[in-house]
Amino acid sequence: MSAKIEVVFKELLTCLQSAKMYGLVHPMFQNSLKKAYAAFEDVLSDRQEVVLGIVGDELAYDKEIFFDLGKFLRPAILYLKERNIQRLAFYRGLSKEELGKFVGVISGPKEDFKAGPQQLLALAGVENISIGKLKVADRQDMGVLEFNQLNLYDFSMNKVAQVVSSVLNLEKIDPQALKLSLNNIIDSLSTQRQELLNLATVKRYDVEVYVHMLNVAIFSTYFSSRLGFQKNDVLDIGIAALFHDIGKLYISRKTLRKPNQLTEEEFSRIKSHTVLGAEFMFKYIDSLGILPVVVSFEHHLKYDSSGYPRMPWLRKQHIASAIVAICDVYDALSQRRGYKQDYSPDVVYNIMNRDKGSYFDPELLDNFFKFMGLWPIGAVVGLNDASIALVREQNESDIRRPKIEIVSPQDRKRLVDLTQDVTLSIERYLNPWKEGKEYLRLG
Ligand SMILES: [Fe+2]
Ligand SMILES: [Fe+2]
Repeated sequence: MSAKIEVVFKELLTCLQSAKMYGLVHPMFQNSLKKAYAAFEDVLSDRQEVVLGIVGDELAYDKEIFFDLGKFLRPAILYLKERNIQRLAFYRGLSKEELGKFVGVISGPKEDFKAGPQQLLALAGVENISIGKLKVADRQDMGVLEFNQLNLYDFSMNKVAQVVSSVLNLEKIDPQALKLSLNNIIDSLSTQRQELLNLATVKRYDVEVYVHMLNVAIFSTYFSSRLGFQKNDVLDIGIAALFHDIGKLYISRKTLRKPNQLTEEEFSRIKSHTVLGAEFMFKYIDSLGILPVVVSFEHHLKYDSSGYPRMPWLRKQHIASAIVAICDVYDALSQRRGYKQDYSPDVVYNIMNRDKGSYFDPELLDNFFKFMGLWPIGAVVGLNDASIALVREQNESDIRRPKIEIVSPQDRKRLVDLTQDVTLSIERYLNPWKEGKEYLRLG
């Protein structure tokens, strides 16, 4: 079915384009109208209606989101959104004339749509098409939940907690809804990268495995999209990252957070979270694919295969596991946890680089810090001239020299690109819960 819907939408948009280019009487338009109508006839032959939705920047039909299609159709989707059209319903009985009138109406200027798009259609005498906003019922059908961008982290957190507990209870989950939340994260990463990466670091005080899993999912989606993976692959990696430690939720909290040396037995219980997790995710192969199984199983295997679970034969990590492994350790080291001191970013960088080539794929690790920078966005840092600054933007050419905003002292307040001004450099990191706290408010 989804292939047919793709054809419908593509033909419809070709039709709209030719209406705009040639006008409604031109043979080019008539020709594309004929094709679009044939596509509609085909899908309406065995159903009463076809409802298409625009969700965020994507096109949705039923519970399916056409990510790849959305990418190519972005201008068209924007065009419809500008005309307040989020929902397009086509009913059986639709005639070619109606479709032609509909295209004529939506090819008009966006100012015409202020009164509401449906009225325009009614005026044109189109009965078998309705357009307008998404209804609550559609949103539920499409697995869409509305949320404020600023609450994105909390929203995702809830979603994650829900899905994770469903998996633990072996209940059915909605993979499309999950993909959509992750997709929202990725979209926000492109526009609100700073804020979101900030959130991932701000929430560090929390000790829940859930938070860790979501952080790792956020880092992994960001990292893999920067590495150039296709959106669908990025989502798959993100989902696998989300579940990488699900086996841990099965292991007693006491063991996981024990401050002292673990006994041999306790340690092997912790190690078993990989196998346990893989067993869990195996039950979701139909909906989530094989990657969550692979990543749960392999994320502690290490680049040189010297980690766990131990294998009687040599097994090389899948690239998704190698990506998640880096994000996993990065988050674990950066998090402020009761059983371990809070490391500053330069210490995290040094620790991880010590294991370059053994624990971590060297090339991937270099790329990771190239994208993330050594000092994360939002970090409070002390400079060599004793002023205090917040990290604003990374410079990929030099991970130690990001763009910063000096916030103290007052008279030195300004934005500085450290690759331009080489007299200044970052000397130390101020813990955002202690000495760095007061400066965060200044930013
Ligand atoms: Fe783990
Ligand atoms: Fe982990």
